[in-house]
Amino acid sequence: MDEKKKKTGTDELPLMQKIAALCKRRGFVFQSSEIYGGLKSCYDYGPLGAELKRNVMAEWWRSMVYERDDVVGIDASIIMSPKVWQASGHVSGFSDPLVDCKLCKARFRADHAPVVEKGATVEYRKEGKTIKGVAERSYVCPECGSPELSEERQFNLMFKTNLGPVESPDSVVYLRPETAQAMFVNFLNVQQTYRLKLPFGIAQQGKSFRNEITVEHFIFRSCEFEQMEMEFFCEPEESDKWLEYWKQERFDWYVRLGAKPENLRLRTHEKDELAHYAKGCYDVEYQYPWGWGELEGIAARGNYDLTKHQEHSGKKLTYFDPNKVDPATGKQGMHILPYVIEPAAGATRTVLMFLLDAYDEEAPSEGRAEGRVVLRLHPRLAPIKVAVLPLVKKDEWLVDKSRAIIKEFRRNSINAFYDEKDAIGRRYARQDEAGTPFCITVDGETKDTDTVTLRYRDDMRQERIKVQEAVDIVRDKLRD
Ligand code: GAP
Repeated sequence: MDEKKKKTGTDELPLMQKIAALCKRRGFVFQSSEIYGGLKSCYDYGPLGAELKRNVMAEWWRSMVYERDDVVGIDASIIMSPKVWQASGHVSGFSDPLVDCKLCKARFRADHAPVVEKGATVEYRKEGKTIKGVAERSYVCPECGSPELSEERQFNLMFKTNLGPVESPDSVVYLRPETAQAMFVNFLNVQQTYRLKLPFGIAQQGKSFRNEITVEHFIFRSCEFEQMEMEFFCEPEESDKWLEYWKQERFDWYVRLGAKPENLRLRTHEKDELAHYAKGCYDVEYQYPWGWGELEGIAARGNYDLTKHQEHSGKKLTYFDPNKVDPATGKQGMHILPYVIEPAAGATRTVLMFLLDAYDEEAPSEGRAEGRVVLRLHPRLAPIKVAVLPLVKKDEWLVDKSRAIIKEFRRNSINAFYDEKDAIGRRYARQDEAGTPFCITVDGETKDTDTVTLRYRDDMRQERIKVQEAVDIVRDKLRD
């Protein structure tokens, strides 16, 4: 399919609909509680989706934690002391401006509404007629274009619940709206137990919850989602250098995993977009079918978070550097509050991005009567790495041989899938849609030569390989 056509704004609905339909048809993503009519903005990951999400998160963990000496991982509780969220500013400030349209009753975020000039005359439909009105705000209703709007109310995005059996103000707790704060409050625990020296990072991934006013574009913005965040603590004077390093490193990670570079960009935040404590911020943006949008933010947070937690907890959160001389006392050894660079990515949003980017339709061509839908996922992200297919299911020998090959893949921790149903072409088509990079077909020739056909998803090339080479060949491709 023509990439440009696929990505134009006018094609938004078709492509997003195709992705949602593929996700349901093939078991990537289902609407939550579907048999009860679904629950808005909540999604369940089916067999293929669960694998894809796990693979995305495992790749992040590999590049952020396993392949580095300077980053360690944690897995903190989703419910934290409410004091954490008071200190971080989420209780008082993590809110969106909520507005109701008096005309069509739509509820929306003021900062996401279509912009108009304040005082301008706007046309909109009322009681079946097109009328003119004056915009008293710098935006109108995103649904019907009306300027007849309620006051703006600040709406806190944190989900509240109670810890323990008694519902009282004292038992109020929140579901975390970001994974980041656990890294700040555990900063010294981790630094001291692991004897870490600056610069170093603490990484975490997992569920976060935000009671979003507008949920949109399938799994792009939902109320329950997964994040992959890392807080990189460094000397204050090195903060700019690390911001530049991490923005590039994070951008390159998406490209290494197969995202098309032309669909990605780095955008610097303007001064007026920055949080008051932030010293600089980049967004990795993706060209979604509806336009450029955020995938990940890489922010220089200064020492704002550690300062706040120090103030609110009354506990010192400074890092002790024995090699520095404290200029205030002239003595050896100095306490500092490190600066932080935070790459904060959305795992579920990244899943959507990779699905969009990998989706392709091929028209029928010479030698192939039917077109195909193919997910060109990077082999390491692909939910199933290899499908093993006996050409004929009635031939017991072929079935047994296929089973033996599957077993060998599984012994090597390679997710292999067995399929004997339908004609071979249909089976290949199913694997193309699932994004499976390799298919191995066991046929009559296998009996005589101990060889099988290896078929490549992307160009449908087929080659004959020795059975005993199969695992090594696939493993090598997964290493690329
Ligand atoms: N600790 C900083 C932080 O949480 P953020 O920009 O609010 O920053 C980071 O979130 C990433 O989390 C976003 O770039 C996005 O990928 C993802 N994210 C945020 N809200 C989301 C939502 N409602 N649904 C899906 N993903 C979301």
